[in-house]
Amino acid sequence: MSGQVTAIIAAAGSGLRFGADVPKALIQLGNRTLIEHAVAAISPAVDQVIVTAPETHLAHFQALLGDAVTVVAGGQTRSESVRAGLAAVNSDTKYVLIHDAARALASTELAKRVLAELEIGEVAVIPGLLQVDTIKIVDQNGYVTSTPNRLDLRNVQTPQGFDFSVLKAAHATNGESTDDAALIEKTGNKVLVITGEEKALKITTPADLATAYNFLGTNREFFTGVGVDSHAFEAGRELWLGCINWPGEVGVAGHSDGDVAAHSICDSLFAATGLGDLGSNFGVDRPEYAGASGTKLLNETYALITEAGFEISNITVQIIGNRPKMAARRKEAITAISAALNGAQVSLLATTTDGLGLTGEGKGISAIASALVFKVSSNDR
Ligand code: CTP
Ligand code: MG
Repeated sequence: MSGQVTAIIAAAGSGLRFGADVPKALIQLGNRTLIEHAVAAISPAVDQVIVTAPETHLAHFQALLGDAVTVVAGGQTRSESVRAGLAAVNSDTKYVLIHDAARALASTELAKRVLAELEIGEVAVIPGLLQVDTIKIVDQNGYVTSTPNRLDLRNVQTPQGFDFSVLKAAHATNGESTDDAALIEKTGNKVLVITGEEKALKITTPADLATAYNFLGTNREFFTGVGVDSHAFEAGRELWLGCINWPGEVGVAGHSDGDVAAHSICDSLFAATGLGDLGSNFGVDRPEYAGASGTKLLNETYALITEAGFEISNITVQIIGNRPKMAARRKEAITAISAALNGAQVSLLATTTDGLGLTGEGKGISAIASALVFKVSSNDR
């Protein structure tokens, strides 16, 4: 079947409903991101894999997925993203599977069952599950107009399989729909629903991610850590705090940019994971870290703990000092720290010390961070 089956994985969405600071396909589930799960599961069933990624993250996706996967920029809508993928399909392709990165745990076996129906002559095959809830059709005022028979309804999933030329023709009209089968239905072709999978659920919200963890059948073991850092003010230096720059504020002395929030978080992560501390990982004997930004140190720390198999549950950091006043830029700092940790959940507080100590006397800034991390014990499917 060489060269005949291509999978297009739609992964260009931003994941608004999930609410992370990274595109949804880059969210971590067990030992890999959603898009890596989706690629790993579908690859054994197909000859070519095309991933449509957010335009802003093309290089990131390509580096993550390797050269065997074709990464193309997606569009504004899912249908546009699928069309961008279709444009990159090998011309000798006979069947295409259109899949969502958000359905990261759909199995190889499901993809193979969809393909098996195409091979015996179907032109459009989609997985679906029986509807559990009763569905109502309502009018614009919220009044029920009808109740379809629940037994006639299916919750449909991906991968959806199509004869390539039939799907190309269906998309030629530039139609819009939340799935591809709907465009085929409009052309009058038959769409067959086969039995789907519970674990092919679409990960839309954090609660869905928790459900997906249950399907992974994994145990999570949690560890906590704290980290503290202080730096004295030094005239003539720029201030970096919480991974953002503070124009007009006096900076602090230090080997790096002196971002006490970032440094205390790094140490809390090292403490939780038992991987040493800031000094042993990026200390003065590592000249490449002289002047390193808080963002860079967080990036590197994240890479080290991820490599050791840990994931972040959440981070809290409290900044202690008379200035700068954090309140107005708290959200900005949280977003910057979270982005440096691949979208981790971060909270940031600030306080003063009633005139006492280094920070109370206005001589410098401190921060205390705590991290909760976990390790997934068996996460291979
Ligand atoms: N998708 C895409 N291009 C878009 C929008 C969505 O490739 N312009 C992809 C998503 O990455 C996802 C799949 O289509 O894998 C299903 O979409 P959905 O679950 O709605 O994901 P998002 O659009 O990212 O999420 P949200 O609607 O919450 O923003
Ligand atoms: Mg969407």
